Amino acid sequence: MLDRINNLKAEIESLAASTAEEVEALRIKYLSKKGLVSQLMADFRLVPAESKREVGQAINDLKAKATDKINSLRDSLGSKGEDLSGLDLTRTPSDIKLGTRHPLSLVKEEIIAIFRRLGFTIAEGPEIEDDWHVFSSLNFAEDHPARDMQDTFFIQRNPDVLLRTHTSSVQSRVMENSRPPIRIICPGRVYRNEAISARAHCFFHQVEALYVDRNVSFADLRQTLLYFAREMFGPETKIRLRPSYFPFTEPSAEMDISCNLCGGKGCSFCKGTGWVEILGCGMVDPNVLEACGIDSKEYTGFALGMGIERITNLKYQVKDLRMFSENDVRFLDEFTAAH
Ligand code: DAH
Repeated sequence: MLDRINNLKAEIESLAASTAEEVEALRIKYLSKKGLVSQLMADFRLVPAESKREVGQAINDLKAKATDKINSLRDSLGSKGEDLSGLDLTRTPSDIKLGTRHPLSLVKEEIIAIFRRLGFTIAEGPEIEDDWHVFSSLNFAEDHPARDMQDTFFIQRNPDVLLRTHTSSVQSRVMENSRPPIRIICPGRVYRNEAISARAHCFFHQVEALYVDRNVSFADLRQTLLYFAREMFGPETKIRLRPSYFPFTEPSAEMDISCNLCGGKGCSFCKGTGWVEILGCGMVDPNVLEACGIDSKEYTGFALGMGIERITNLKYQVKDLRMFSENDVRFLDEFTAAH
């Protein structure tokens, strides 16, 4: 019996395995219920009484050795079962590649943060819209040519189900569902049926702002715009308002900022003018207030809308709009430092 035990001990000490399956096969061979070690235990009852002590101890010893050996074989394989014996586990790990936030998200967050400091809260609306919220409630008459300013994607040939062409649709949804004072910004994706090129895309992003209360004036709008421009593009930034037309505002204006590349001296970016256009704005047309159930004799408001891609281009000089949706990591990596 002791010979059997010693032979088995020598055999176990020399065991080797290179896969998890081999280790498991060894465990079954030696340590399972019908394994060789268990068989010794079964035969123990045949051992004469005077040797029981010595043999019992030897069997226990063998079992502990076998268990240790098999555990150490398993440990040497690593968590996935591969052989790690040739690897240097003290080596410095290679860099973990961190992702970056998308430039449009960075700029959107920055715009939101600026307006939040002025007390604006975020409102959201659906991307699949109806004619009323995108056009009719915003004072676009049925056959008004202004509807052609924005080439619309219609869904299922139904002229009343469409992809919103601007985030101004959220204005009317909020005005319908809440009472002044209203002070909101609406960031979101919009869609237009345009051929994709470096300068146009069939989807892009806007942020809309709306402020409705008693005695809101054009001066409030102008001051808000100036604050925004300086927070976004630096304290030296100048603004200029040019008369414009939008169906939902009266009067309407477009805002330019002094070119942030040349500081207003004139360069190729601003085509020598010293100014670049960044957004549309105006006083909410009384027709829009009334269409949304707000008394236009009691309340006035201002609204503004800007393209996030446009602002991002100005901040980071992205020349081709398509870069924003191609997810080329070489492009996205350039914004790591902007976090
Ligand atoms: N909705 C306009 C567009 O998509 C942008 C805009 C202009 C929004 C003037 C406004 C505004 O709220 O007052 O071109």
